[in-house]
This record gives sequence, C-alpha cells and structure tokens, in this order.
Amino acid sequence: MSDTDPELEARLAEADEFEPPEAFVEQANVVDPELYETFEENWPDCWERAAALLDWTEPYDEVLDDSNPPFYEWFTGGSLNASANCLDRHLEARGDEPAIEWVGEPTDEANRTYTYNDLHRRVNEFAAGLRELGVGEDDVVTMYMPMIPELPIAMLACARIGAPHSVVFAGFSADALATRMAAADSEYLVTADGYYRRGDPLDHFAKATEGLAEVPHETTTVVVDRLRERDGFGHDLGAGQYDWETLLTDHAGETVEPVARDAEDMLFLMYTSGTTGEPKGVKHTTGGYLSWVSWTAQAVLDVKPEDTYFCSADIGWITGHSYIVYGPLALGTTSVMYEGTPDYPDRDRLWEIVEDVEATQLYTAPTAIRAFMKWGTEYPDRHDLSSLRLLGTVGEPINPRAWKWYYTHVGDESCPVVDTWWQTETGGTMLTTLPGIGAMKPGAAGPPLPGVDAQVVDAEGEPVDAGEAGYLTLQKPWPGMLRTLYRNDERFVEEYWATYSDTDSDDPDDWVYFPEDGAKVDGDGYVTVLGRVDDVINVSGHRLGTMEIESAIVGVEGVAEAAVVGGAHDVKGEAVYAYVITEDGQTESEAFREEIVAAVEDAIGPIARPERVVFTPELPKTRSGKIMRRLLEDVANDAELGDTSTLRNPDVVEDIRDAVRGDDD
Ligand code: WT7
Repeated sequence: MSDTDPELEARLAEADEFEPPEAFVEQANVVDPELYETFEENWPDCWERAAALLDWTEPYDEVLDDSNPPFYEWFTGGSLNASANCLDRHLEARGDEPAIEWVGEPTDEANRTYTYNDLHRRVNEFAAGLRELGVGEDDVVTMYMPMIPELPIAMLACARIGAPHSVVFAGFSADALATRMAAADSEYLVTADGYYRRGDPLDHFAKATEGLAEVPHETTTVVVDRLRERDGFGHDLGAGQYDWETLLTDHAGETVEPVARDAEDMLFLMYTSGTTGEPKGVKHTTGGYLSWVSWTAQAVLDVKPEDTYFCSADIGWITGHSYIVYGPLALGTTSVMYEGTPDYPDRDRLWEIVEDVEATQLYTAPTAIRAFMKWGTEYPDRHDLSSLRLLGTVGEPINPRAWKWYYTHVGDESCPVVDTWWQTETGGTMLTTLPGIGAMKPGAAGPPLPGVDAQVVDAEGEPVDAGEAGYLTLQKPWPGMLRTLYRNDERFVEEYWATYSDTDSDDPDDWVYFPEDGAKVDGDGYVTVLGRVDDVINVSGHRLGTMEIESAIVGVEGVAEAAVVGGAHDVKGEAVYAYVITEDGQTESEAFREEIVAAVEDAIGPIARPERVVFTPELPKTRSGKIMRRLLEDVANDAELGDTSTLRNPDVVEDIRDAVRGDDD
C-alpha cells in the first residue's frame, strides 16, 4: 500500500461516516427517505415499483404467491420478454444511442460501439441463427466466451427465443465447462477462438474443444472469430461447429418475434461453487430477476439513460449479468464493456477508459481497489476522472482504508461509494446505502434496501445485539431471489433454508434464507459482512469451493489427502492454502508442488491456483476424524491457534505452522 499519502492519512483520522455529496443528491434517482417505511408498510406490493420499470406482454395477477415456501413465485400470471425489455422498447427514443461501448484490450483497436439499433439487429440475427441450429424454448445454451460484445448479444438472443443461457466464465478450465454443460444437459455452446490477455492472444478454442470432448452428449457449437483477423490465429471447424459471422450473414436483417415468457420462466442458469465438489446451478427467472436488477441499477447505481455506466466485472460472473447486461440495458443506458485487465498496458488503463468514454459510474471490486492503492495515486492522477458521479464496490468486504482511498483518489470526494452486498443467488443488491439518501460508513455495506428484511442472528436464529457477530439472514423473500438449484430442489432447501427454517411448515414466516455469511449490525442498522461461514473461500471476489479444489488435488497421483482453506491476502482478500499429505514413496519436491498447482488449474482454472502448497505428514483431526479447518486457517493467517484440545493429534498443528513459517524464510 502506498505509505506516504498525507492526504489519505489525514482523512483516515477523521469521522467514519460520510454524507452523500449534495450535488449528487440533487440529481439522484431516489431521494425519498420515507421509502424504507412505505416499502415495509406495503410489502409485498411495494415490488410493483420494480415491476413497473418493465414492459409486460401480459400483466401479472399477483405480486407474490407464497403458498408453497420456499418455492416462492413472483408476478404470477404475467408474461414478458427480457430481450424486448432490454432492446425493442428503447428503439424509438434511443435507437441511435450507444447501448454497448466496447473497449478491446489492444490499445490500437478502435472501440466498438453498438447503438440500440445495432444491438437489436445483431440479437435478432443471432436469434434467427440459433433457431436454425435447432434451439427451441427452454433449451439451455452454454456460453464460454471472453468479454466481447458477442457475449451479451448471444445472451439476449437466447432470451428473445426463450432459451435459458448458462454462461461459464472464460477463465474456467475445460473440465469446468464440461461439468456445467453435462449438468444442464446443454446441447449448444457459443464460444470464441480466443481473446487477448496482457498483449498476448490466448487460444480459447483449444480449451473449449477439450471441454466439449468430455461432454457425454452431442453438441452444436458456434465460434466467434475474435483473433483470426488480427493474428491469423486460425482454427478449423468440425462437424456441428458453425462460424458466428457466417451464421449472422445468413440471417442478415431478419427479425425474430420476442417470445412471451411467463414471469417465472427461467431466464438463465448460473453455476456457482458450494460446499460440495458439485457446482450449484442457480436458477433465475424472467420477471422477478429483471425487475430486481432494473430497480437496483436505478436506485443504487443511479443509472439514467443518458449515462455512460462502467462496470469492470466479467460477464462470466453474476455481477456482469445483472449490472453490465440486464439492469443497465433494461434502463436504456450505455454500458461499457472492457476486454482486458486494469494493468495492461499500464496500471492506468481503467482510468484511461473512464476519461476516454467519460464514464459516469464505476462499479468494481475491492480486490481491484486494493491493487490500485498498492500501485499508487500517480495512475488515477494522470487522468481526468471528473465525469464520475458514483462509485460502487461488490464481491467481498472492503476495508475502510481502501474505501477511503477510492472515495478520495477516484471519486475526488464528490461521488458516493455504494458498497453492495449480494450473491449469485440474490440476483442483485440486497444491502447497501441508497446513494442519494443514506450516510456511508466505510467498511459496512449498509442497511438492507427498502423492502429487504435482513437480520443478524445467533446459532438459534435469535437476533444478536448491535455490535455482536452473528449470521446474516434474509427473513422475507424478494423478487430477484433464485427459485431453486437446477433440478435439485432438495439441495436448494438444504443449502439455503434448512438452517433457520421450520421446513415442515407452509407458513412463509417460518422460512428464513441463509446466505452463509457472518455479519454484525450497528445501532443504526448498518450491516458489516464478515465473510463466508461455509467451506467456500472468496479469492479476488470470486467464490471457490474448497472441496472442489481438494478433489482436484487428491486426483494427483502421489497425493494421499488434502485440505484447502483460505488465508488472508492483501490484494486478493483470500488466497488458497493447500495442505497436502503425500503417499509413501512420493518425494515432496518443488516439481511435485507444481504438478499439484497445475492439476488445480486444469480442474477449475487459474483463479483457483494455490498460493501455498504445504506438505505435511498429518492433518489436524478431531477424534471422529473431521479435519479442523479453523486451525488450518489460523496457520494460513499466522494467527494465534484456536483450541486444539479436541484434536486427536494436537501437536501436528504446530508442526504445520513451523513448516509454513519455515517456507516463508
Ligand atoms: C459472496 C457472494 C455479488 C456478486 C459477486 C460475488 C461476498 C459480495 C460483498 C460485500 C462483503 C460481499 C459474500 C457473498 N460479498 N459482496 N459488498 N461485502 N461481502 O458473488 O460469487 O455469489 O459471492 O461474496 O460472502 O456471500 P458470489
């Protein structure tokens, strides 16, 4: 972290509460503090306000059907099309305005601007192409694509014909792609030949091909040519594989009538990591999800049609789905999409983009902010960032120091910072300050949004006192919630509801959603999220299941047993620590370490790469044989060791600690 920064140091000593800047308040979308009360009094009808942001083909009969908790249904009887809401309805007023402003990684490449008319045309053509390939309503189409405009085009084309999409992050491995396609019985894949990373063309098609070879059923693939033109990075298409551009040309100028989808019909699936090795297919719906992301983009991110709104997330994660594609486009704004990383070709790339496109909002992750902070203020200082009106963060807790750095050096103290807590499962933001209303407290996400009932409880489900650590719960359903885990209702109930609900009851008051985060709440109702309480770690704002990593490691020949935990990391938030017991005869060499790291990259992707692989003769276990992860976390964090008295082998923890410390020297 930049250590000589008197301006920041002075500010750190100041109050820990910041009022929304006046100039912001004067123009904010939402300024009425009564909203909290009126939503509470009118719950669940308050959500009509969110639904009213959309165009409905058929109006809904009922806001909420809660007759069969936790299988809630929202806006029942209504129908709509997400692509029509994100495109068609804007054409008359905003057809020539940019919908997507795309910035490629190579700096000599011109931005690609898609107006609403352009995007509408491309989406229609691709929708026609998908139909030609046989995609019908409810067929799951997988996308394994980098940050190129064809990704949102493909998503919206699916939405247009009522085919749910399942986007797999391009950084995930071939195995991860195959698992997700198999789990969803997805017979269609849209991918790309490659993309750029730090100046180099990356052969994505090879990875996709490897993945497809593992999918147990027949597949049809469409491949976007991102690299060939620039780099001659050719690839041959096999049987059942089609070139994106040819497909579009074949359907040039065609229009496809948007299919009216029931509000509860699936819009998309998004796989996320859980406590078992098997990823969870989070199901989101058309009416509830789209209402939620539109409302929260408007109320929290203050999106207006004339904005140039920039979210630096990847569309391969939920943040990009909700707040690059669906929320911003439903509101008819300009959404900026950047292909590369913030430090290429230099560490001012994001600031250069902000200046160049005159971005009005920037929504990014604490891990990025911590990196910016480390790099120093000279990078943002090189650019005119005065177009910015609001800053946002998402993905993990942000420490007050990083928050204040962002507020001061990026926002010039004139932009509110919204620290938004939410999850893949919630669809969109749940806890944060409303930027035109609430004071901001660095480190605390904020109060629940109007109409959201969050409580911090103890193990018995009783609310804890202000300042006490407990478990975050959501006591009432909300339109953007996941409806189930794809084809696994039982796991849905087990994972999210069983902990605090009376699962035999059909009274919705007996059902409580548990996001598996620890939290505390202050006297003003501001929630500070403390992190995951399950065996899931958060690396650079991305959720990884320790079980998934462990199963990759134990798959390596020569490994007898492995335990994976998260250890604090000053940029990534958490880093992967792997404790490995080798089989007899296996040497604990550097080469073997590398083999383990490579196996994790192959199984999941580079984001899951272990920071440390620690060889140990034993793992700390209870008498019943359960690995005591807490202790391994203490070791990873070089923290004081917790209680070891229940261990079968108490001495082993100190041995492991010595091994970790020794490696550091
Ligand atoms: C988990 C969800 C939401 C999109 C990106 C991550 C953590 C998220 C915050 C925040 C503290 C946060 C939680 C949550 N998290 N936002 N503002 N403050 N923690 O989505 O992969 O579904 O992960 O990220 O632990 O449960 P995800």
